[in-house]
Amino acid sequence: MAAYPSLPQHIGIIMDGNGRWAKQRGLPRAEGHKAGVKVFERISEYAAALGIPCLTFYAFSTENWQRPAAEVQAIMALFRRQLDEMEARWEENERKRFRIRYIGDLEPGGPVPEDIIRKLRDMEARARDKDKTIVNIAVNYGGRQEILRAARRAAALAAHGALRPEEISEADLEAGLYTAGQPAPDLIIRPSGELRLSNFLLWQSAYAELWFSDVLWPDFTERDLDTALEDFSRRHRRFGDIGDPPPSSLSF
Ligand code: IPE
Ligand code: IPE
Ligand code: MG
Repeated sequence: MAAYPSLPQHIGIIMDGNGRWAKQRGLPRAEGHKAGVKVFERISEYAAALGIPCLTFYAFSTENWQRPAAEVQAIMALFRRQLDEMEARWEENERKRFRIRYIGDLEPGGPVPEDIIRKLRDMEARARDKDKTIVNIAVNYGGRQEILRAARRAAALAAHGALRPEEISEADLEAGLYTAGQPAPDLIIRPSGELRLSNFLLWQSAYAELWFSDVLWPDFTERDLDTALEDFSRRHRRFGDIGDPPPSSLSF
């Protein structure tokens, strides 16, 4: 386990490439998703052991409902199974002290099956007082939907006279995001060769460093995370400024 001069405070991971991984092996796509869940478990444990305070894993997007019903059902069945296993292995997870949170549109009456919503809310409640790494799992999550939800919340406060429209601040908007109170992701990792965010953490990633890899998610290893962290520690983050220290050759 390497030591890095600067560790991200929050890593977002787009777990992509499960379908292609399965196809390469002549397996049904569901097998790729199953393999992807195992990698999620390994990588979350490794990142927590490295001392990363916050992680967000993109598991299912608001757009993924467009997939064939059989694939959606297989993914929902995997969520169910994972939640049951997490409950069964609670003693072991207790030691890990992950603070598991689910982010996304998980209101009852929506497309996510009610029994899954109940199980994941129960899992969150059990993990509420944990103080180690926060592990957000994004299910039925969309960045635009999240911003819309935050805007509606601010509009409702304004309509009730609790907020003046012209004074709505970034902090007011952020208070309505699922990740309220958490640091913004400073590193976003996307395996599978796609160079896009696919509606992931759109507001929060304004200044995130992006890291892409051709590795398919089920093949992603601790070593790949190390490589991303090494690259991250070499990035020069400026946030619109000229950098610190300013190059001495610049004079105005
Ligand atoms: C990511 O893998 C998992 C979900 C989106 C649920 P994909 O299923 O998108 O895998 P590819 O991109 O088809 O290989
Ligand atoms: C993004 O992957 C969503 C998740 C990994 C959960 P997709 O496979 O859905 O993204 P696109 O369709 O290639 O942009
Ligand atoms: Mg994909």
